[in-house]
Amino acid sequence: MTTTLANKIALVTGGARGIGRGIALALADADAGADVAVADVDTLAAGAQHYGDARVSGFESAQRTAAEIGARGRRALAIGADVTSKADCESMVAATVRELGGLDVLVCNAGVVSLAPVAAMDEATWGLTFAVNVKGVFLSCQAAIPTLVARGGCIINIASVAGKNGAPGLAHYCASKFAVVGFTSSFAKELAAANVRVNAICPGILRTQMWEYLAETLRAPGETRDQSWQRYVQQLIPLGRPQTPADIGQAAVYLATAANVTGQALNVDGGIELH
Ligand SMILES: NC(=O)c1ccc[n+]([C@@H]2O[C@H](COP(=O)([O-])OP(=O)(O)OC[C@H]3O[C@@H](n4cnc5c(N)ncnc54)[C@H](O)[C@@H]3O)[C@@H](O)[C@H]2O)c1
Repeated sequence: MTTTLANKIALVTGGARGIGRGIALALADADAGADVAVADVDTLAAGAQHYGDARVSGFESAQRTAAEIGARGRRALAIGADVTSKADCESMVAATVRELGGLDVLVCNAGVVSLAPVAAMDEATWGLTFAVNVKGVFLSCQAAIPTLVARGGCIINIASVAGKNGAPGLAHYCASKFAVVGFTSSFAKELAAANVRVNAICPGILRTQMWEYLAETLRAPGETRDQSWQRYVQQLIPLGRPQTPADIGQAAVYLATAANVTGQALNVDGGIELH
């Protein structure tokens, strides 16, 4: 049984901050020990800015995460790549192979959220959500097929509990995450004969930049952002505590080393969804 990622090479999209950073650090952790490429984007190619400059973290932030990985004694690489671009996805995989020597674990984590009831949703909001959350996963996975097949690698797509159940104001986001779960199970069956495993993680709620935006936008009258956040944690999570990037990183290390697990969408959510 393989429980180590020593001599493995990983690539994490949207890896500069939040969940992606947590996954990148967990994969690089001394016990796991992968070398890690961190891909992120400075500005999005298209779409309205729902949380302005805060929605993307930028290449400098990717460089800071790469430096943290380097400080753990692993080789690291920061890559500027927008996952909505086929050319960027191809060059991000090529840079990882060229600079780090291959690719064994692809983590498709880049994602965006916004709040919009269906009646008021504009096409740009729908389009950007699907461009990043769904097409970005497809393009990243497609670009990595040759090297993953050659090395018997694996893919971990970051979906959400929003890929298991609906939520008001999030029809576009939930539809995109259901799509990631469906893509993951289909792709797992396509690549099983090549010994490439494809799984997803469905995180619950984490106070990353994404939830700073949601907690602020969903504030009840007179409520602070902290109170809004706490209300959602208590309402939504049976275990009564939020998830952390380290929790998601732990699941990523498990899926990266679980040789007989493929096609799964693993909830890491304190009991929000039980299927
Ligand atoms: N925070 C939560 O509660 C939560 C819950 C379930 C699932 N998720 C999912 O986890 C993933 C990470 O979210 P997070 O909470 O860390 O959010 P975040 O906003 O902190 O991080 C998202 C990262 O993705 C990057 N990114 C956005 N668009 C990109 C693009 N086109 N190309 C490359 N990088 C891009 C951003 O720059 C940022 O670094 C997302 O897919 C999100 O949908 C988050």
